[in-house]
Amino acid sequence: MVRTAVLVSGGGTNLQALIDAAGRGELPHVSLALVASDKAGAFALERAKRAGIRAEYVEKDGFEAKLEALLASEGIGLIVLAGFLKILSGGFTRRWAGRIINIHPSLIPSFCGAGFYGLRVHAAALARGVKVTGATVHYVNEIPDGGEIIAQRAVEVLPGDTPEILQRRVMERAEWLILPEAAEAVAAKLEGSK
Ligand code: GAR
Repeated sequence: MVRTAVLVSGGGTNLQALIDAAGRGELPHVSLALVASDKAGAFALERAKRAGIRAEYVEKDGFEAKLEALLASEGIGLIVLAGFLKILSGGFTRRWAGRIINIHPSLIPSFCGAGFYGLRVHAAALARGVKVTGATVHYVNEIPDGGEIIAQRAVEVLPGDTPEILQRRVMERAEWLILPEAAEAVAAKLEGSK
């Protein structure tokens, strides 16, 4: 099993999807060992504690060095960004190349990159009038949302959608399904290449 850290900034429904998938035995190569947040009050930290996973808030000052120390102390081999809104440095993403993935709530390359996060992504999709959107899991590199695509799932946009309604549909029908699947696939690949 690959000891896995999940980085979060908010509510943590994608973290919950990982916890639930693990509970159902669907992530045989993933061991959820650490949840770390750049936001002290993130509800995702509470979800981690409830699931018996080590949960840590990492302060802004020296964030990456403190995070690296935590990752090393837990023997982490895979990082999953699940609603983590801080942009990581090129040095950090290069050190973790091939071992760090992210979920983004659109079909990359649409509505992605710096400034596109959370509800803003769905507001932009609605403003552009697209009829199909979705979610993407990709490897993380130094370009925001620019790494190799691992998985995507399309979701319909319906008349009357608000950013909130669309966000919920994209989460339920895409994010919460493809993130656990992709994490398992990447962990299995990492274990196979040891
Ligand atoms: C999710 O929709 C995730 O895809 C998005 O933030 C939300 C976090 O929700 N991430 C981004 O926009 C990254 N650019 P959650 O905390 O409930 O998982």
